[in-house]
Amino acid sequence: MNILPELRDRFRAALVELIGNAGVADAAELATMVRTAQDPRFGDYQANCAMPLGKQLGRPPRDVAGEIVDRLDVEDMCEAPEIAGPGFINLRLKPEWLVAQINAACRDARLGVPLASPARRIVVDFSSPNVAKPMHVGHIRSTVIGDAICRTLKYLGHEVTSDNHLGDWGTQFGMIIYGFKHFVNRDAYAASPVAELGRLYKLVNQLVEYHGSVERLPALRQQLEQQIAAAQELARQQAESGKPADKAAKKARRRLDDKVTATQADIASLEGKIAAVNQDTEFAAIAAQHSAIGTAVLEETARLHAGDATNRQLWEEFLPACRLAMEQIYQRIQVTFDHELGESFYQDRLAKVVADFESHGLARESEGATCVFLADFDTPMIIRKQDGAFLYATTDLATIQYRVQEWQADEILYVVDHRQGEHFAKLFEAARLWGFNRTHLQHIAFGTVLGKDGKPFKTRSGETVGLVGLLDDAVARARDIVAANDDAKKNGPELDEAERDRVADVIGHAAIKYADLSHNRSSDYEFDQEKMLAMQGNTATYMQYSFARVNGIFSRGNVDIESLRRSGAPIRLDDSHERALALEILKFSDALLESVDDYRPNVLTGYLYELTKTFSGFFEHCPVLKAEDEAVRASRLLLCDLTARVIRCGLGLLGIDVVHRM
Ligand code: ARG
Repeated sequence: MNILPELRDRFRAALVELIGNAGVADAAELATMVRTAQDPRFGDYQANCAMPLGKQLGRPPRDVAGEIVDRLDVEDMCEAPEIAGPGFINLRLKPEWLVAQINAACRDARLGVPLASPARRIVVDFSSPNVAKPMHVGHIRSTVIGDAICRTLKYLGHEVTSDNHLGDWGTQFGMIIYGFKHFVNRDAYAASPVAELGRLYKLVNQLVEYHGSVERLPALRQQLEQQIAAAQELARQQAESGKPADKAAKKARRRLDDKVTATQADIASLEGKIAAVNQDTEFAAIAAQHSAIGTAVLEETARLHAGDATNRQLWEEFLPACRLAMEQIYQRIQVTFDHELGESFYQDRLAKVVADFESHGLARESEGATCVFLADFDTPMIIRKQDGAFLYATTDLATIQYRVQEWQADEILYVVDHRQGEHFAKLFEAARLWGFNRTHLQHIAFGTVLGKDGKPFKTRSGETVGLVGLLDDAVARARDIVAANDDAKKNGPELDEAERDRVADVIGHAAIKYADLSHNRSSDYEFDQEKMLAMQGNTATYMQYSFARVNGIFSRGNVDIESLRRSGAPIRLDDSHERALALEILKFSDALLESVDDYRPNVLTGYLYELTKTFSGFFEHCPVLKAEDEAVRASRLLLCDLTARVIRCGLGLLGIDVVHRM
């Protein structure tokens, strides 16, 4: 049962009766103003819609609230609604209704969560790394958020198709092909292809960046001089005017200063890349020998795309090795995909896409390139370069066509870094012009993973942090925490070494996933292993601990919870803490709906955190094993059990396992 949507439906019906469907205000929108009450003293839910409606009707909101309540049919669920203050409508669920609902949830394998109707066909494009480079911390976000979205949508009954849109056809292959042809260490390659290819990628990338930096630096220095001169000029004019700077002048000044700072940072970064090579005479010599590496890499990529036999053969040799390395990570973090159709899968379709755009008059030539000009964008979307090469955008167009035609997608979600926002905005607009206007396309953007210094998370030497190392590190830290926790137990440790390892493995991986999911995806977040493994607060560790604590109750009391569940013993809600816990449990289904409303898994983590806190309140005030009689004991045990089931299910939808003791 979805309580909140149900109440909103009832309000909508009452509002339609009051103002008509095409009335002064939109009944459905007003009905969304039913919310969870902030203060339980005023009830469980509160509706504030009488205020805006009263204003629009030019009548006292309290009177309007009265008229809404007169038409509101919630008698089966709620006590008589109360009108408070200027016109708040307060609702309190009836005890017998709550009791019936919580008992139904207890008997339901789905914990009272209804299946969506109608079910939608949703394709989720997530993880999608560029395969020739080792996965780094940035990839965790797309992978973990996308996986949680898939699991939640599936649980709600939608038809979900997950697709890992691997970058297996881009410049990064030009890089390793070039690297392989010039720098490969055969023995190392034989021993571990992935490690050697990773080294080659890094080496070539560094050389490309070195030459790129050397090339860009003079222009950037000149730009800095101009910006400084402009700032000085502005200051001089201000001083000459003899007046104190007003708001606009200060703003102009600040804008210039910001530009100077940004350019200085760019210069410093280029200088760093140059110095890294020059410091090492051997490296500097290699760089000098490969001065045209930037274009050479592009040429290798172009040769691959044109079907050159050698490059094609190298690509076919490299790809399985690269995929294996990624597969190992996916296995560790338990992420799977229905499909992994990488960019290369679409290579034969790209020419047709461009031809289609041209023949429909949607694309035209500009400076030798084929471009789609879109209203609202300054620059066109290029779908074929001057040299005939297709682009990332061309592949994405072909991919949309494929997903709609083959999988009948009603909706395609792209879980991708926010920096690709413009790419997707253009892509969606171009797809709409192309005729794909019945498929809902959405970019599920996310922010950057930051280090403790508030900058993008890098190692001290400035490299992006590899994912494998981070996972290992989290598991090692989790191992210490598990050991310390176990050693501190009143009756001595419970876990042997093997179980400690197993538990640490679950907890370490969970900590990383949960930390990512519990932050609003739109914001950047700070990667802090200590915080994410904390036993208190909104962490996976705390959730898992709460789950294990409930299980501890059952084992201490020798309770066979499965048979108690089957016995049909009723849950009673006589104490206010029991009632509060039951209500929180019943909100699970609302939380799931809300979490997929705009695809924000942090809604679900937030809910689970509230649930565990409510459980703590209940557990403090209501003796379970020592309850006053058998019936109360059974009822409370079942509430504990429901809490554990919801935690387990909720964590499961986030891709996180539980442990029975820790
Ligand atoms: N491979 C791309 C990258 O690493 C992300 C791909 C996202 N999905 C897509 N259909 N464009 O930046």
